[in-house]
Amino acid sequence: MKEKVFKDPVHGFVYVYEPLILELIDSKEMQRLRRVKQLGLSYLTYHGGEHSRFAHSLGTYEVTRRILEGLDKKGQLFLSKKEQLLALTSALLHDLGHSPFSHSLEGVFSLRHEAWTNKIILGDTQVNKVLSKVGSNFPKEVTEVIKGIHSNKLIIDLISSQIDADRTDYLLRDSKAIGVSYGNFDLERIIRVMVPTKDGIFFRKEGMHSIEAYILARYSMYWQVYFHPTSRSGEIILRNLFKRAKALYKSGEDICLPNEFTNLFEDKLLVKDYLNLDDSVLFFLFQKWTSSSDIILSDLSSRILNRSLFKRIEVDSNDDDLYSQLSSLLVEAGINPEYYLELDCPSDISYDYYQPNSNHKKNPIYLVDKRGEKVELSQISDPVRAVAGKRVRYNIYYPRDLIEKVEGLAERFKNLLDSYK
Ligand code: NI
Repeated sequence: MKEKVFKDPVHGFVYVYEPLILELIDSKEMQRLRRVKQLGLSYLTYHGGEHSRFAHSLGTYEVTRRILEGLDKKGQLFLSKKEQLLALTSALLHDLGHSPFSHSLEGVFSLRHEAWTNKIILGDTQVNKVLSKVGSNFPKEVTEVIKGIHSNKLIIDLISSQIDADRTDYLLRDSKAIGVSYGNFDLERIIRVMVPTKDGIFFRKEGMHSIEAYILARYSMYWQVYFHPTSRSGEIILRNLFKRAKALYKSGEDICLPNEFTNLFEDKLLVKDYLNLDDSVLFFLFQKWTSSSDIILSDLSSRILNRSLFKRIEVDSNDDDLYSQLSSLLVEAGINPEYYLELDCPSDISYDYYQPNSNHKKNPIYLVDKRGEKVELSQISDPVRAVAGKRVRYNIYYPRDLIEKVEGLAERFKNLLDSYK
């Protein structure tokens, strides 16, 4: 096959040499990812954050391809042709099952994207047909790599580890799209210091500083983008909006739901229904719900569309007492705390920075010296030790605009919060 290239803002070009990869890119299931934003509601904070999961998927493939090429040039690539293809296809397809606005939707409808990626790859889909050409067991192997349970640890580490093609691509891509420089690091240098082993990927000790830069990029992006309180506020409103819609539907209210969504609301979603979900069909629903007779449903919908978000106050602890006292204040004023008050902790989101000691299923980052001795990164790196596993913050989100409409409520709300500082 002649080389095929895709222009890419992060990597310059994405290079495709295998017809199989091209067929996967052209499949319906991959094309759906063009209609799902990579960063969900972050565009409410950073208007540049409109890039798609499709772009990130191609990028993850390209980083994997470059790592394999880099190892090959150094004579360290001990994967067969078929294993290389397995790594490349798994990288390309790793986010195939992502729903639009993943966290908000997944929580309410119990849709885990990992489970959907699995179902799509193994189901009656174009992607499955293409993968099956390699061998009848190939689709299953791809799901095993994505789930991190394949027997080849090296391939798993390429796609899903503390420094993998997925994370390196999204950090570079997200920071570039929104226009911040702190997500940047030297990917080429990191690839150069990789040491592939049968236990996974280690890094040469002399490359420590490029890895530190990567961990610090993760740390900054986590606090300033992924857990940004404005985007988080949008996610909370969206989750409560779905929660409200589902509660109304379950109690038999008419929420003007198009037939296409019935299976979603009845928890009977099939792969073909799932593949019809994207950002635009959900925006259509929100638009419809702005004229709903249910005040909560219409208010939360227009908040998302018009960026009228909840305000946030940082608190020191996740004290249940504080939450229940604030709830009572809202109830008194006729505001339903179930949809309008949230005590939020960052550990609820799927991004993290480096926490080598947590019981995370991913291995910590190991550096190896010339004698082959290995040491965990935070043991010898001061900046990594300084940020590793630190600091939990709690935030209270609430609708200040509604509170200000009720005489005296804003002041009582503030006094209560101050008493917990
Ligand atoms: Ni990803």
